[in-house]
Amino acid sequence: MAFETITVEIEDHVALIRLDRPEALNALNRELAGELCQALREADANDKVRCIVLSGSEKAFAAGADVKEMARLRYVEVFGDNLFAGLNDQFAATRKPIVAAVAGYVLGGGCELAMACDFIIAADTAKFGLPEINLGIIAGIGGTQRLVRAVGKAKAMDMNLTGRFMNADEAERAGLVSRVVPAKKLMEEAMGAAQKIAEKSQISVMAAKEAVNRSFETTLAEGILFERRLFHSMFATEDQKEGMAAFLEKRQAQFRDK
Ligand code: HXC
Repeated sequence: MAFETITVEIEDHVALIRLDRPEALNALNRELAGELCQALREADANDKVRCIVLSGSEKAFAAGADVKEMARLRYVEVFGDNLFAGLNDQFAATRKPIVAAVAGYVLGGGCELAMACDFIIAADTAKFGLPEINLGIIAGIGGTQRLVRAVGKAKAMDMNLTGRFMNADEAERAGLVSRVVPAKKLMEEAMGAAQKIAEKSQISVMAAKEAVNRSFETTLAEGILFERRLFHSMFATEDQKEGMAAFLEKRQAQFRDK
């Protein structure tokens, strides 16, 4: 199905989803939110896809939710529609890894979308911020929650209250992004990371993602128990036998997701 506000390409087991509203710096409107949910659902269900990369343009990953669309909305409408709840739910439901590849403006809902991905690779041009506070609102798709977990309360509170931007270096130092690369190398780096993930056993990749995500929801003791149970369950897979045999035989493993 053709999309209006995003593009989707599948190559070498990686689905590259790009936000594509250049006239509005990829601002997230309801159409884009719906299309992105659909693209994530389809990529997750597609056997040819083993990893997803979410990106925007060189100028902007996304400059936030679409202010032109939101400006006229009233409480009963945003509450009644549960505005943007579907996006959050779809990211949480996607079992394949999602790598965010961001450059330029990564603001408001755009920053929140990047944080909803499994990890963020940033171009050195990236500017992160939660400027919702300047509009008389607050973050609405995880900005007050995920940023605290990513960078701690001090910076998260600073960003949420002042609306200031963080550059890529500060974001890397603070632990918001996993890698910073020159802008020209962004897509090569992100697609390379996605391809590395795509080479692994899909079963252990999905288990690792689930276990890391569980750490946000539970106590350390429960999280370690959850991890150990998943770890033990890996020994029921053919891929565990293959991965270890390949290591001992000094060859490349041929995983079959079994
Ligand atoms: C709608 C936007 C937009 C946005 C930019 N544009 N951001 N349209 N919603 N969030 C549009 C501009 O209106 C303009 O279109 C075009 O994109 C280019 O933007 P400029 O402002 O001319 O570019 P520049 O001067 O380079 O400034 C870039 C910018 C600025 C610093 C990123 O655009 C800006 O401050 N944008 C808003 C950022 C923001 O407040 N984000 C948070 C939104 S609230 P026209 O047609 O006018 O030329 C949010 C809530 C999330 O995200 C939670 C939801 C549940």
